[in-house]
Amino acid sequence: MDAETEKRIAAEAAALLVEDGMRVGLGTGSTVAHLLPALAARGLSIRCVATSPQTEEAARALGLEVEDAAEVDHLDIAIDGADQIAPDWWLVKGGGAAHTREKIVAAAADRFVVIADSSKLVSRIRPPVPLELVPFGLAGTLRRLRDVELRDVPPSPDGGVIADYTGAVGGPEALDAWLGSVPGVVDHGLFPPAMVAEVIVGRGDAVERPKRLI
Ligand code: A5P
Repeated sequence: MDAETEKRIAAEAAALLVEDGMRVGLGTGSTVAHLLPALAARGLSIRCVATSPQTEEAARALGLEVEDAAEVDHLDIAIDGADQIAPDWWLVKGGGAAHTREKIVAAAADRFVVIADSSKLVSRIRPPVPLELVPFGLAGTLRRLRDVELRDVPPSPDGGVIADYTGAVGGPEALDAWLGSVPGVVDHGLFPPAMVAEVIVGRGDAVERPKRLI
């Protein structure tokens, strides 16, 4: 079974978790691209927040109501893809450069649900870890980060420079703390297990819900 089918069935399973009247956070990427039509097809009365202009445009085109994230303090559920999912549910996100907004939306949700094809399950987190950097003082920030590569992509919608940390990961917890402490780093793509409520993975033509291994 191909990856697109696995993404679609995981996304369709997640769409069933959404209930009438909910406020819903919509992630970004090729897996979320399958979520949007599945959600729209349910015909629920829901209000959404989008993590990227691409998702906002696609959601609106399908008739989903998208609100200004600046005005929404709480979401019932957020659903998003991931680049890596470790057995203990540490995630790497940001392959599509939307990780800063995605982390804000995940943190605002009562329930953050991760959807993925089976290739995203990894035995341990490895580089690269996406970064969003403040343009001001960029050369100094890059020097402090040492192992970092600028990505050849446009700035984020919030004006951030997109890069990837390519050094050793070791324990994600320590790297999470260190990257979060470097002046000039807006945010990074490591998401801690405490943020994740559920993981839904397509494998072949079936959906798996792997438990978190501690
Ligand atoms: C967007 O910045 C990312 O965090 C995506 O959620 C992640 O890269 C997964 O993308 P795909 O669903 O396209 O694999």
